[in-house]
This record gives sequence, structure tokens and C-alpha cells, in this order.
Amino acid sequence: MKGLILSGGKGKRLYPLTYTRAKQLIPVANKPVLVHAIESIRNAGVEEIGIVIGQTGPEIREAIGDGARLGVRVTYIEQPSPDGLAHAVKISQEFLGDDSFVMFLGDNVIEGGISKLIGDFTHSGWNSQIVLKEVKNPSSFGVAKLRPDGSIEQLIEKPKDPPSNLALVGIYMFDASVFKAVNAIQPSARNELEITDAIQWLIDHGYSVMPHVHEGWWIDTGKATDMLEANANLLDELKPSIAPDAHLENSDIDRRVTIEAGAHVVNSIIHGPTIIGEHTIIENAYIGPYTSIYHHVTVQNCEIERCIVLEHAEIMDLDERLDSSLIGRNVSLKRKQRKPRTITMNLADHSSVWLV
Ligand code: G1P
Repeated sequence: MKGLILSGGKGKRLYPLTYTRAKQLIPVANKPVLVHAIESIRNAGVEEIGIVIGQTGPEIREAIGDGARLGVRVTYIEQPSPDGLAHAVKISQEFLGDDSFVMFLGDNVIEGGISKLIGDFTHSGWNSQIVLKEVKNPSSFGVAKLRPDGSIEQLIEKPKDPPSNLALVGIYMFDASVFKAVNAIQPSARNELEITDAIQWLIDHGYSVMPHVHEGWWIDTGKATDMLEANANLLDELKPSIAPDAHLENSDIDRRVTIEAGAHVVNSIIHGPTIIGEHTIIENAYIGPYTSIYHHVTVQNCEIERCIVLEHAEIMDLDERLDSSLIGRNVSLKRKQRKPRTITMNLADHSSVWLV
């Protein structure tokens, strides 16, 4: 069994953060989304992983390296243009060989890992297994129509008129018969080779494709609100810990808080689940639940709740509580100390600001 993680794409819905960083490298619960995917695969006992990269490839190679730090062996596969998920499978044939594999979209986050799914598939003799999840907006995904006996009748990519509310989760298991499918299908209306069409081809040609309906949460982290939700869910699962060299002074920190090495917390209240990154300084502040503050951040004289704050940001002297926000690297967010108290901003393209 091998793993294949798809980590291309521009991440347009996460502008401006993704102008300067691959979307799969944005941290949730202080760990890049892509690292969560690698760990899910590794925890299922699969150590040989191919990562398909596009334009942001150099940055992904630099962050993940050969995978040794994460206990896996990584091979990079370059996809010259974003021609679809089935195209990514096609160009990975040499790496995958005759092995079965799990394909994981590098921006998907799922509750509870994939060990059971992989275990079931390995012993099943099926040609493919797909994961489905009931959603409120099926038109945004690939959608499955099941027969009364639970088998798959049809899969349709982003249907205007969805036949069910069962979306295809970005986690798929295949044996080598998928190569026949990806070589047989034609590009879709959006000019991509769709994995949904490849799986439909397998079904139409008599291969066994089994659906598994996932009960826990699943998030495709396309937008800022998805990132915040994935962050909240992962913080809920995190086992809290406080680094021995963290400096804690005159502060109330509840038991669901993780504080990483070298962080300073002074005169502050922190309510978990929350994570404070390495060498971050929290002073005279309130940090509310579901907040992830990455490394080397400074937060002084303000309140923050349900936010993701990236490295080297500075947030100081705010009167209002900062809530449900995604703050990028090196951002400076401060209240002016002198008059006139006008608003001064220096915002990147596609930034959004909500004032009270
Ligand atoms: C892709 C698949 C879609 C699936 C989704 C899950 O969509 O084409 O079938 O439901 O991932 O994240 P995309 O994110 O490429 O629009």
C-alpha cells in the first residue's frame, strides 16, 4: 500500500494568504494541513508517500523534505498544469506501480484518521473504496447516488441538481485497475480529467467500488471559514501539554491549553482548547477557545477568540475583541497611541476587514 497526496492548486479562495504560501502549508492547530494528511496516512501504517505538486512545489518540498522528520519516505511528482485529479493519478503511475494506494487531497481534514478505512480496503479484494459524507451544499462537490442496497449507482461532479446530499470526500482507495480508467476517460466541461469520472468508469466496467459513509466531521479547507472550523475541530482532538521551558507568570490557563517551547504568558487568561506556539509572547491578554497562535507572535493588551494567527504577527492594544479571524505572517495590528484616531491600513490584494 502506498499513499498519494495531491498538493497542487492555487488556493484562490484563501487570498491573500495564498499569494505568498501554498494553501496546504497554512497551519491548523499549529501544524500545516498537509502535515495532518501525511500523519493520517502514516498512522494507518503507510510510509511510502508520493506528493503531487504544482506551482507551489518548491515551497512544499522545502517544508516537507524527504519526509524522514515525519516518519515517511516522500517522492515528489510534478504536475506541469492543474489538469485534474485523475490526471494526477495518471502521472503518478510510475511511482505507484502495481501497488494499491490511498489518495488524499492535501487540503482535506477528517475526524478520526483513516486507519480503519485502509484496513478494511486492504482485506476486501475491492478495486476501489470511496468515502462519502452528508453535506448541506452537495453542488460544491462530487455527489453519489446510491441504490437501495447501498451500492453506487452514479457519481456526478458538482451537479446543479444533486441526486443526494452525499458528497465525495477527498480520500479514495484504489488498486492498479484505476489506471485503465484514467487512461480511458475524456476531460470534463471544466477541461479536467475528473477522478469522479474515472470511478464512474470503474463502476460501468464491472469493477467493485465500495462506498463508506463517514460519520465524523470532514472539512475541505477551501475558504477562511473552513480553516477556522478545521482548526476548532483539531484543537478539540489535541491532547494538551505545556512545554517545560514555557514561562508562565501570573496567568490563568485552563487544562485544555497547549503551550509550546519558549512561549511567554504573562498577566493573561487563556481558555482552551487553544494552542500557543514556540517563542510567542502573550501579555495582558485574554485568549479565548479555538485559537491557534503560531510561533514568534506577540499579543499584548488585547482579546482574541476563535482565530488563527500566523508566525511573526504582532497584535497590540485593541479595544474590541478580535474574533473569527485569520491573521497572516508578519501582520501588524495595533491601536494608534496618538491623535488623530483615524484608521490607517496597509492591506494586501483581496484582504477583508470588518470594522465595528
Ligand atoms: C474535488 C473532487 C470532488 C470532491 C472534492 C472533495 O473537488 O473533484 O469530487 O468532492 O474534491 O474535497 P475540487 O476541490 O477539486 O473542486
